[in-house]
Amino acid sequence: MKQLFIVFEGIDGSGKSTQAKLLAEKLIAAGHKIYTTFEPTDSPIGSMIRNIFKGRMNADHQTIAALNVADRLDHLHNEINGLLKKKAEGYTIICDRYYFSSYAYQGVHMDMDWVIAANTLSAATLRPDVNLFIDVDPEVSMQRLNSTRGTIELYETLDNLKLVRTKYVEAFEKLKGEEKVVSINGNQTVAAIAEDIWKEVSFEL
Ligand code: ADP
Ligand code: TYD
Repeated sequence: MKQLFIVFEGIDGSGKSTQAKLLAEKLIAAGHKIYTTFEPTDSPIGSMIRNIFKGRMNADHQTIAALNVADRLDHLHNEINGLLKKKAEGYTIICDRYYFSSYAYQGVHMDMDWVIAANTLSAATLRPDVNLFIDVDPEVSMQRLNSTRGTIELYETLDNLKLVRTKYVEAFEKLKGEEKVVSINGNQTVAAIAEDIWKEVSFEL
């Protein structure tokens, strides 16, 4: 059975975690061994990043970019549940965010090429078989965030999410020779999005 590394990307509230869960269920039903994970991780480095996003700690965007580089390398290499270990154990990996999140989110505030260069080790170590970009209108995602979440985090303003979306598109264009990216219309029902995703993923199997 083909073993894949599938990454979900999109602005906050685009429906990544909802779709990652549904995709995992379908792949498990089809007999795949699945490991689902996310970035920023729940390691000490990832927790530090989340504390910055929640406003419990303060750091500038360059520091956030560097912390994400470190969190990602630990996510790949750590000996307990690192992605390389999971891959060696035969898992198909579904990851909610990976380096394109850094290109888009930190790329709004600093030179995107620096962020891409800083992530070359991760890209060389484990490149996604497919980046599924759930493309949702920032207005729609802000409505979802406002109605379902108690607190709004660092990057979660309408103006910023509009810029992040533009940066995603810029990064996909920049790396189109190296990266497989599939854009999915995220302004649909959960079921319709899941169907579009399944068409793309079953094509890869
Ligand atoms: P993300 O992981 O990208 O932040 P979530 O999957 O957590 O997004 O979804 C954010 C919120 O929007 C959740 O409350 C979820 O139930 C809801 N949601 C997700 N997908 C859709 C959709 N297609 N239509 C309407 N609401 C959705
Ligand atoms: P996430 O937990 O996926 O939040 P959401 O469910 O709202 O999409 O991600 C938290 C935040 O982390 C999100 O605002 C994007 C940000 N982020 C970066 O800025 N750079 C990165 O490299 C990563 C992985 C995430």
